[in-house]
Amino acid sequence: MKNLYIETLGCQMNKSDSERISGILSHFGYVETDNEKEADMLIINTCSIRQLAADKAYSKLGVWGKWKKTRPELKIGICGCVAQQDKESIRQRAPYVDLIFGTHNIYELPSLIKRIENNEKVCAITNKPVVKNQNDFKIERKDSVNAWIPIIEGCNNFCTYCVVPFTRGRERSRKPDEIIEEAKNIIKDGFKEITLLGQNVDSYGKDLNDENITLANLLRDLNKLEGNFRIRFVTSYPSDITDDLISAVEECEKVCKYFHIPMQSGNSRILKEMNRRYTKEEYYQIVKKIRTRFPDVTITSDFIAGFPGETEEEFQDTLKAIDELELDYSNTAAYSPREFTKAAKMTDKFLSEQVKYERLEKLNEKNREVCLKSNEKFIGKILNVLVEGVTVKDETRVLNSRAGNNKIVHFEDNTKNIGDFANVKITKAQTWCLYGEPVG
Ligand code: SAH
Ligand code: SF4
Ligand code: F3S
Repeated sequence: MKNLYIETLGCQMNKSDSERISGILSHFGYVETDNEKEADMLIINTCSIRQLAADKAYSKLGVWGKWKKTRPELKIGICGCVAQQDKESIRQRAPYVDLIFGTHNIYELPSLIKRIENNEKVCAITNKPVVKNQNDFKIERKDSVNAWIPIIEGCNNFCTYCVVPFTRGRERSRKPDEIIEEAKNIIKDGFKEITLLGQNVDSYGKDLNDENITLANLLRDLNKLEGNFRIRFVTSYPSDITDDLISAVEECEKVCKYFHIPMQSGNSRILKEMNRRYTKEEYYQIVKKIRTRFPDVTITSDFIAGFPGETEEEFQDTLKAIDELELDYSNTAAYSPREFTKAAKMTDKFLSEQVKYERLEKLNEKNREVCLKSNEKFIGKILNVLVEGVTVKDETRVLNSRAGNNKIVHFEDNTKNIGDFANVKITKAQTWCLYGEPVG
């Protein structure tokens, strides 16, 4: 038995990848530990969406490299989006690394592991993904309630700021049968929530050349599986949300009434510069359509502050959009230039760090304001929640839970446990969470 430590940066797709990496390595006698100091193998699964995330990977490698000086038998690996993109600089900056593998090479690990155990230095990064039936390998899921299923990987959109098409390649959908089999295993193992993952989850099936294979139909098929569980899907691209998808969400009682639809900017000129395939008005229409179909739906978004050439007025359009659309929550970030992307070449239009971070702060302030307003709307309503955690404070049992619409709800209860569903009447709202009392 050997100890494996994996540190995961970045998005849910990376978290899901790490669970799969850990599962594959378990076939070779590696057991995951939370304590990096007792590991025989250290792996960092990296993100390169912004410079800050990429820098974190290198600083961690630096620390681990020092450890290896006194413990040369320690194996160090790096994978994920920085690895896929940056193998040359990794070799230069961290020559002691034993294993570099890309996002396309996870299923090559069985042979790579044998090679590093023979003290070879290995680098496996290809542009063509190594594809295997994922159900042939164990998955070491981290959460006991929610299980991720990646259904489509990669992106064909090439938004001008974004590195993902370069780190994850073009869109590749998994076969519906393989996904359903994974879902059945998840339900059998007692998970209560399945989250379907994709950089553009609503593009699911487009590359499989069968018009019946769509996200909407996949939701319908999963909804038919027996068991008490719920289904989520992220991330949606605004103009790819079809009427059929909205209908499927409505029909399927297990599918949560929740949409994550990044808008990125509230100004149509900036959206065009970003190569987003919708205008501000079209985004407004999509939100309106969803809100009229589902009364208690929540819609969350992502925004970038300070895209090259963004004027103060154009930035104000973003703040206005967040208000007018009553968005329930948004992830926010200051624009960070990424290698290979078009926007990174617009250097003459770059804004100063100061302007970007001032705008980011205003975005965050607006976000806090609309989040509180959104939460207050639920006071007096009853939400069905899934218990994710229990904290005991001064002998009172407080349950941390999540509603179908993704709101975090805390309530006191002595009967429910992690993995139980409950109906909770909301009594109090704060910026990031709700409080309530169990009913019925
Ligand atoms: N596929 C999703 C987004 C995936 S990336 C979509 O199309 O909406 C996650 C988020 O990171 C993006 O929504 C964007 O807001 C942010 N992001 C991506 N590239 C960025 C960059 N260069 N600088 C700042 N934020 C960025
Ligand atoms: Fe990046 Fe755009 Fe693809 Fe989203 S749709 S992953 S932002 S290129
Ligand atoms: Fe980061 Fe790669 Fe995800 S760049 S956000 S880990 S797809």
